[in-house]
Amino acid sequence: MCGIVGFVGKKQAAPVLLDGLSKLEYRGYDSAGLAVRDGEKDPVIVKAKGRLKILSEKTADGDAVKGGCGIGHTRWATHGEPSENNAHPHCSDDMNVVGVHNGIIENYVELKEKLQRHDYKFYSETDTEVAIKLIDYYYKKYQVGPIDAIAKTMVRVRGSYAIAVMFKDYPGEIYVARKDSPMVIGIKDGQTYMASDVPAILKYTNQIYYIGNMEMARLDEGKATFFNLDGDEVEKELHTIEWDAEAAEKGGFEHFMMKEIYEQPKVVEDTINSAIKEEKNQLSVDLSAVGITEEDLKNVSDIVIAACGSAWHTGMVNQYVIEDLAKVPVRVELASEFRYRNPLLNPNTLVIVVSQSGETADTLAALREAKSRGNKTLGIVNVVGSSIAREADYVLQTLAGPEISVATTKAYSCQLVAGYVLAIALGKAKGHIDAKKENELLTEMKTLPAKIEKVLEEKERLQWFASKFANVHDVFYIGRGIDYAVCLEGSLKLKEISYIHSEAYAAGELKHGTISLIEDGTLVIGCITQNDLYEKTISNMVEVKSRGAYLCGVTSYGHYNLEDTADFSIFVPKTDEHFAASLAVIPLQIIGYFISVAKGLDVDKPRNLAKSVTVE
Ligand code: F6R
Repeated sequence: MCGIVGFVGKKQAAPVLLDGLSKLEYRGYDSAGLAVRDGEKDPVIVKAKGRLKILSEKTADGDAVKGGCGIGHTRWATHGEPSENNAHPHCSDDMNVVGVHNGIIENYVELKEKLQRHDYKFYSETDTEVAIKLIDYYYKKYQVGPIDAIAKTMVRVRGSYAIAVMFKDYPGEIYVARKDSPMVIGIKDGQTYMASDVPAILKYTNQIYYIGNMEMARLDEGKATFFNLDGDEVEKELHTIEWDAEAAEKGGFEHFMMKEIYEQPKVVEDTINSAIKEEKNQLSVDLSAVGITEEDLKNVSDIVIAACGSAWHTGMVNQYVIEDLAKVPVRVELASEFRYRNPLLNPNTLVIVVSQSGETADTLAALREAKSRGNKTLGIVNVVGSSIAREADYVLQTLAGPEISVATTKAYSCQLVAGYVLAIALGKAKGHIDAKKENELLTEMKTLPAKIEKVLEEKERLQWFASKFANVHDVFYIGRGIDYAVCLEGSLKLKEISYIHSEAYAAGELKHGTISLIEDGTLVIGCITQNDLYEKTISNMVEVKSRGAYLCGVTSYGHYNLEDTADFSIFVPKTDEHFAASLAVIPLQIIGYFISVAKGLDVDKPRNLAKSVTVE
């Protein structure tokens, strides 16, 4: 987490840094800081606790800090409380090295002790100060220049980092390095930009370099030179980013979350279209961009899906879809558990990792664990050039575009349809789906965007409902099968942005203990999109209603007798039941959003969270 930005060029650096940080604030927002150098003068460091706007005020929107070379940081505290003292940039006492860092240095205590033995003093509780002072130590001890000093530090530290530093002796230059934390470098018109994520610099350039793991770079005006750990120069290719800068702005919506909810029809359509083709009025799956062949799929014995949070929830949905359509056993694992539990994998187990950011530390570790065992890996990833996108054997890219709101919506929806496409391809390769069935399923999938639009028309009604429940304490989401998986996501959406306790339960499981929590007025939201489970789930809803629950039901058009049981009913268009999660989740996202708004909370930046979880 945390966001870093750097700039070196002919313009004033501070406004560019603040602007970039504002696009990265979703990565961390408990404090921020910047360091800017004017020619050969020492850097001016300004820091502020709290949101970025305090730093902007302190620097008159950057105008008060002169100079064309600088680095900035927005923090999500890991070591030490959020405070000005712990905020980045950090520096050596003589200002020889000044730097910002995203990630975690695991052995910082041991390194701190080592540096203390060499008379270094520490003013903050951060691991970053230790890393900066270690660079300073190697720089002075070996007198070998910035790249070698950073390389020696990289060999010595354990953990993950994207780091950017300026050296007193090298005005007009920024040195960067990364391991397991994202970083991009952009160039345009004699200016060089660096950031943890593309949206921070997209306004200025769409020409991007991706710096590899365990690599370093020297940035000066309009130029980036890359180095490996031996200090040898490495060539890099410039990539053109197709997203436009506007896609990363709010576009008239009050919050990114609602903007992203409304983008779902378009991005789901783009993602579906990117993986199918039409020939002679016949739709078929086309995984040529993914790189996996029909033969590869035929050889898959079983699947493990590893992911975190909402991405894990899409795995839960797709477990049902893949097993039903392709008859291939699927296990869904939390990436944070998978990586440490010595999982049993068959030689032909395909390990699918799902991630919006492509940088989630646990998911990346799960991918590496699978690869180290010789298993084939497939990444369902949104961010091009991210670590998972680069390391997975096959990549199915979701086309959600930049997702800024911390609570995912559109990336979740794209992950769902990516899973459906894989399920169909696998079903076909395994001989369970013929061309006719494939065409039918894909034709239905192509109707999902319009059906999502239809659900969005319910917005005002859902807002009315949500505003009534802004003060509840507990909410339960219940469903069976795919509906249970949708409930997991609905519940997470609510709790993460509205700070209301909620749980998702398989509807049949509630009476094995949890039903004792139901009392007068407890809100229970039942999801019932699967026909053969309809009566069963209705019975479970009646069970909680008779214990005082206030019932909200989500079902598909036609099941109007839901109104006999539920106090508030939401109807979504009918679709093939395998794809029902794509519609049922929409009202749950909207309810979560409006409850948060009604409580006056910061929807896009909920407390304690950050968008990209690059620490374990
Ligand atoms: C919840 C949410 C998180 C992420 C999780 C994985 O709204 O966004 O639960 O789904 O942190 O992130 P990615 O998909 O980037 O690996």
